[in-house]
Amino acid sequence: MPPLFFRKGSNAKMIIKTFVLTPFQQNTRVVSCEETRKSICIDPGEGSTELVEYISANDLELQAIGLTHGHLDHVGGTAALAKSFPDAEILLHESDEDLYYGLPQQPLFMGIQRHQMKAMGFDYEPPPRLTRNWRQGETYEVGSLKFSVRHCPGHTRGHVVLAEEREKKVFTGDCLFNGTIGRTDLPGGDYEQLIESIRTHVLSLGDDFTVYCGHGPDTTIGHEKASNPFLQGYY
Ligand SMILES: [Fe+2]
Repeated sequence: MPPLFFRKGSNAKMIIKTFVLTPFQQNTRVVSCEETRKSICIDPGEGSTELVEYISANDLELQAIGLTHGHLDHVGGTAALAKSFPDAEILLHESDEDLYYGLPQQPLFMGIQRHQMKAMGFDYEPPPRLTRNWRQGETYEVGSLKFSVRHCPGHTRGHVVLAEEREKKVFTGDCLFNGTIGRTDLPGGDYEQLIESIRTHVLSLGDDFTVYCGHGPDTTIGHEKASNPFLQGYY
């Protein structure tokens, strides 16, 4: 694949590459600081040669594997990616550790039988140890990028959203999508809590923020405020 073109002296600071992975069409992203090439992979959904090659071919430094939450379609590729880039730290909110370390059992909760797991691509090895937990309100720096970490429970207990406020970009995982919101019928889900999380920690960022969702197309906060049927009257 062609290497990235790192522009010097331009205003562009963030490079975002999306890989649509897993049968759930999950958006795995590599977000890079243009100046330093330091990068974070947000939600590696499954092991992907293409993902590893992208990081290596572009001489990116994978500083972190940052997980928005512990569901299998967002963390299933953590072990494979950590093997290729063992220096990358792995971060997740503490309230989703049970989901994360229980990854090999997660398919059972979805009705997939143990003997079906391999054929369906859901035979997970135990994931690697987390380096540390996200802390609500912390600023996580990746080169010159500064992500504010916002705890947004409701889809899962430990879901976080990562916002780069100078770039006006927010990575919402399964909290907020284009035209809908995350499901709340899985263990740890809570509809009222999710709406409150979105209102407090996402909509408050500003209408001109681009929203990078865990599934489906990008959107903006302004667009969601105006048209998302789940958010009418909440701001
Ligand atoms: Fe999820």
